[in-house]
Amino acid sequence: MRERRSHPEAGTAPGGARGPTAAVDAGPPAQAERSRRNSIRSAFDRAAASYDEAAHVQREICARLARFAAAHGLHTTAPAGAPLLDAGCGTGFGLEALAQRSPDAPRIALDLAPSMLHQARRRHAALHPAGAAPAPGAAPAPGGALPAPGGADPLLALCGDLEHLPLASASVGLVWSSLAMQWCEPTRTLAECARVLAAGGLALVATLGPRTLWELRAAFALIDDARHTIDFQPQAHWLAAAQHAGLAVEASDSAEVHACAPDLRGLLQDIKRIGATTVDGGRRRQPLGRAAWSRLQAAYERHRRPDGRLPATYDVILLALRKPTHPRP
Ligand SMILES: C[S@@+](CC[C@H](N)C(=O)[O-])C[C@H]1O[C@@H](n2cnc3c(N)ncnc32)[C@H](O)[C@@H]1O
Repeated sequence: MRERRSHPEAGTAPGGARGPTAAVDAGPPAQAERSRRNSIRSAFDRAAASYDEAAHVQREICARLARFAAAHGLHTTAPAGAPLLDAGCGTGFGLEALAQRSPDAPRIALDLAPSMLHQARRRHAALHPAGAAPAPGAAPAPGGALPAPGGADPLLALCGDLEHLPLASASVGLVWSSLAMQWCEPTRTLAECARVLAAGGLALVATLGPRTLWELRAAFALIDDARHTIDFQPQAHWLAAAQHAGLAVEASDSAEVHACAPDLRGLLQDIKRIGATTVDGGRRRQPLGRAAWSRLQAAYERHRRPDGRLPATYDVILLALRKPTHPRP
């Protein structure tokens, strides 16, 4: 699932706005981009029902992002009442972290995958019975907004793309995004965060760096030349994208977190159950034969820990980015 992450080219403004000459070049890349988005959406849609059972590392990283914000005393200074956005909310762990930070602020749940949003609304309805209640069997249409029925704690669920946020400029007080941005192009995504944040607004981001799942790539490299993970961008790339977007870096951090399972099959199953399976270009087409699977398992065994478990590394990048109150000239 390696992806080419291009910076805006000549004729393309930051945030993806096309210049007058861009239409000529926009055909095949735009199509490839749409098809990549569709694969990501389908994979996460399929995983929505199993996500919570397998998402141990994702929950841990969400908690780390909350602790990182608390440790640095980070708060939005956007005007009171500006909503908090969970961008790439999945099944909605982050919405609860937001509710704890600012119980009275309105919240927006946004995700590319309608079934993930549906789970987020169900979770929200269960935890806040007066708020959102999903219509039975209803999933929001792509691009559509489902305002929650009225109540003490309403939630707005939006099906949309982090690279093209369906939100007005300067309308959001805080963007929270845990483990969604690695699926996106950094410059376009952070430009969109900068656009929707009100002055003084804060973006709290957890994303993944290049050592993520390195054990898996190393083991597969002995078997084939196919891609088995996306390309994860280094922290420097995210910091450069933030600067390009006009966001000030208030704090950044990185840490390694490990998913563990008794065996390789268990590690791979967990990755599948959270939906992180999209690989565009260079995906392996044939299933692994028995001999190749044995070689893969043997290669991965060298990582077995003294506690008997097999680890998979998540190279976590944490960022706190502020939209300045006085934009740079
Ligand atoms: C690994 S899950 C993380 C979900 C949640 N934030 C959490 O911490 O559990 C990644 C989520 O990002 C969403 N996603 C991926 N690309 C996206 C995009 N371009 N726009 C919006 N959501 C996206 C997926 O649909 C999925 O729900």
